[in-house]
Amino acid sequence: MQFAVYPDPDSLSVAAATRVSAAIVAAVEARGEAAVALAGGSTPRRLYERLALPPHHDRIPWSVVDFFWGDERAVPADDPESNYRMARETLLDHIPVRPERIHRMPADRDADLEEAARAHAGVLRATLPAGNGGWPRFDLVLLGMGEDGHTASLFPGDPALDEMDSRVAAVETPYRGTRRLTLTLPVLNAAAVVLFLVVGGDKAEATRRVLADREPLPAGRVQPESGQLFWMLDAGAARLLGKAGEAANPADSA
Ligand code: 6PG
Repeated sequence: MQFAVYPDPDSLSVAAATRVSAAIVAAVEARGEAAVALAGGSTPRRLYERLALPPHHDRIPWSVVDFFWGDERAVPADDPESNYRMARETLLDHIPVRPERIHRMPADRDADLEEAARAHAGVLRATLPAGNGGWPRFDLVLLGMGEDGHTASLFPGDPALDEMDSRVAAVETPYRGTRRLTLTLPVLNAAAVVLFLVVGGDKAEATRRVLADREPLPAGRVQPESGQLFWMLDAGAARLLGKAGEAANPADSA
């Protein structure tokens, strides 16, 4: 797995914005539009804010980008916990995205999350090109990682990790039993480009377990079959990687 280490979260977000911009522009050049799955949580905030500013604001053809999410909490769209709300506040409300190209995960339909998962899987099928095995192929998937090695809402030991038929799964999480919707591993692994953004010393142990020890934690099982996988770490997250971490330089510190 390729990775780069950045001195701090801000320099990581600068480099990540460059990578995101390049991936979207390449997809639009190749097929006239781009499909992006946004990460949730707090780490991507800086990146999204930076994408909403020059030069990326003007460089990316936002009107032909379809936005999805890697996962969503079972909360209303305006809830402070909502990944959709976070992306709206930091990026979507500041760029000329077409409303019909914003595909919020309907996780607030908590009453029947399984039905919501099936409905959203239909949107993926209708909107994205088919990749390996007929799985919907994102041009770019952004992911974070939790301290336990989870990514999106695929948590260690969760049966959703072995879901090989559905595109979207409804899951219970260890976080106060909150329920969520998540893209499944076959969809993540059908992507053309997957970028992990991992920041903070609290992620160092999980980062070592995945990148150095190759433990099959959920984040370690994201291995795009015919796509690029890149991990972008700050110094805190990389601090237990030892020589490997020191040797890794910002491949694109532009
Ligand atoms: C979510 C995310 C989740 C997140 C990690 C890291 O909905 O919370 O999809 O997978 O990326 O938990 O979260 P932080 O960036 O807040 O550390």
